[in-house]
Amino acid sequence: MNILLTGGAGYIGSHAAVALASAGHQIVVFDNFCNSRPTVVDQIRALTGQPIPVVEADLRDTAVLLGALTTHGIGAVVHFAGLKAVGESVAKPIEYYANNVQGTISLLQAMQAKGLKTLVFSSSATVYGDPQYLPIDEAHPTAATNPYGRTKLHIEEMLADVARADPQWRIARLRYFNPVGAHESGLIGEDPNGIPNNLMPYIARVAAGQLPHLNVFGNDYDTPDGTGVRDYIHVVDLAQGHVAAVRYLLEHAPGLYTFNLGTGQGYSVLEMVRAFEAVAGRPLPFTIAPRRPGDIASCFAKVDLAASALGWRATLGLKEMCESTWRFQQRAAGL
Ligand code: NAD
Ligand code: UD1
Repeated sequence: MNILLTGGAGYIGSHAAVALASAGHQIVVFDNFCNSRPTVVDQIRALTGQPIPVVEADLRDTAVLLGALTTHGIGAVVHFAGLKAVGESVAKPIEYYANNVQGTISLLQAMQAKGLKTLVFSSSATVYGDPQYLPIDEAHPTAATNPYGRTKLHIEEMLADVARADPQWRIARLRYFNPVGAHESGLIGEDPNGIPNNLMPYIARVAAGQLPHLNVFGNDYDTPDGTGVRDYIHVVDLAQGHVAAVRYLLEHAPGLYTFNLGTGQGYSVLEMVRAFEAVAGRPLPFTIAPRRPGDIASCFAKVDLAASALGWRATLGLKEMCESTWRFQQRAAGL
């Protein structure tokens, strides 16, 4: 199957590209490189031994999308492209709606024009809002607490409407929990611009001596050690989840499917710090800082549906998440 990956040069897209290519698919990357670099595609080529065509364009350019779908004989789309920084989305909501929602509309229009109706969408556990119960299953009520989350929710609802209007569509909405880690080669990974917002890349930069210390956002949550608990999932496991989702869509009746992709296991901030210290073999300085506005105490997934339907389960643990992050970080920092 020829598969177009929008945002295929990004953190998750690049790992999914490697996994999908290794599963025998022909991958085409569609990316405007607003949050990634063309060199990532060279790394995907090196890891897969495939030529990996690239279309450098904005998702909102429907004509270019249409051309790409035709030229490359695309049979399915995995849609990663989007802006994802929560804080930035609060400051720049118009940019977020324009990029994420308008971008997806453009994609759907191009797909519809081509009669192409197989789509996997990168959603997020953020659509569950403040958890009402744990672990969170796919039936948990949805709510968004910031513009980024609302773009994800809008897109999810749009996809549901599309599937209702035309029962030939095959759509998988994948709700990722907290992706971390890197490919074992250390060639691709998460390399955010500026100071990282998320825990794992921040920890990695502290370990590399690029940031002085970690701020632990609150130690008075209702959790075993008072720090926030999340369901961290290795990005290579997550990438395999996309291979399973594509296979599922191709083998099952058309329709709309929604899956949590997590491990089902929560770890606290301090557990993450200790695990990383053990791998890097050095202490990680941290200070307890005030809670970050909008943060929740705990969030972890119920993963039974993905296991039973997709036959997919995360297999890599905290050690592998830290080891691969550290390998990538050392390479990126030239250590
Ligand atoms: P990323 O920023 O590394 O990758 C996104 C890619 O999309 C980048 O390469 C960027 O250049 C590209 N892009 C963005 N807007 C575009 C546009 N208009 N046209 C063409 N290309 C565009 O992010 P990621 O972490 O790989 O996330 C991928 C998807 O997964 C996003 O939709 C994100 O919201 C979702 N997601 C990510 C996380 C996470 O923690 N990383 C968690 C849940 C969901
Ligand atoms: C963040 C996003 C969420 C997105 C998710 C995907 C925010 C507010 N939310 O979630 O929308 O779906 O990523 O990965 O950005 N922490 C620290 N110090 C830091 C950074 C984080 O203590 O410097 C703590 C946080 O308080 C939290 C945990 O680490 O308890 C994880 O934080 P983070 O990696 O930012 O992920 P989420 O907040 O879960």
